[in-house]
Amino acid sequence: MKKVLSCNDVGISFGGLKAVSNFNLDIYEGELVGLIGPNGAGKTTVFNMITGVYKPTEGEILLNENKIDNLSSNKIVEKGIARTFQNIRLFGYLSVLDNVKIACNKDMEYSILQGMFRTKKYWKEEQETTIRAMEILKIFGLDRYQYFSANSLSYGQQRKLEIARAIATNPSLLLLDEPAAGMNPTETEDLMETIKFIKEKFNISILLIEHDMKLVLGICERLMVLNYGQILAKGDPIEVINDKKVIEAYLGTGGE
Ligand SMILES: Nc1ncnc2c1ncn2[C@@H]1O[C@H](COP(=O)(O)OP(=O)(O)OP(=O)(O)O)[C@@H](O)[C@H]1O
Ligand SMILES: [Mg+2]
Repeated sequence: MKKVLSCNDVGISFGGLKAVSNFNLDIYEGELVGLIGPNGAGKTTVFNMITGVYKPTEGEILLNENKIDNLSSNKIVEKGIARTFQNIRLFGYLSVLDNVKIACNKDMEYSILQGMFRTKKYWKEEQETTIRAMEILKIFGLDRYQYFSANSLSYGQQRKLEIARAIATNPSLLLLDEPAAGMNPTETEDLMETIKFIKEKFNISILLIEHDMKLVLGICERLMVLNYGQILAKGDPIEVINDKKVIEAYLGTGGE
């Protein structure tokens, strides 16, 4: 199986605080891996390092065997990593369709001049992008809201739109940071089906941060637990969540 992501002894310090250390993780093509751990464990920091928001102070990160930890966030998106954020980030006043079209943008080739003069190439690409964006919206059941502004959607729908935008960049690896946060049980159930579906349809690898254990156990093929920036346990989901060290780590911080 093809290795998509490798984190080799990755670490980062903020001032004196070691937020993450000795982080090792390989993700293979089409795999869905869960990254869990108590609040402040360093999960989002791992995403920030993989996506070039923070530069690791130790170790290296490879995407499809190529080093990416020296690249900018934009370049990393181009190379095939997409993410969603713990706090939803959308263009709230733009339409649902435009939110996805902007994300498709990385494949657009018309120049500024061609855009200004509305040349044939512009219209062709514009039309193709609209078709593609609508196809993606359909997968998420959001096509009927294409002309609504993003911030008029329900919370669950906004979360889905964020994932739709990530998919539009054509990633080989998708990082989801607490996609079920704030969702009701029905929305979470629906999200679980959607994640399964996109994983199969696009054959992408997914790294999922989530506190909702039903979602985690429902879809993750293996789990990795972070605690105080260190890997506490990893492997089979059921074995991991029954691990004494893991239970103590959660209880020790008040549980979830
Ligand atoms: N830019 C930064 N500067 C200083 N400290 C930071 C920075 N980013 C993260 N940290 C610290 O790193 C640690 C890990 O934070 P992180 O956000 O990765 O945790 P998390 O596991 O995602 O938690 P949560 O479940 O609450 O989202 C925390 O102690 C946090 O305060
Ligand atoms: Mg976080």
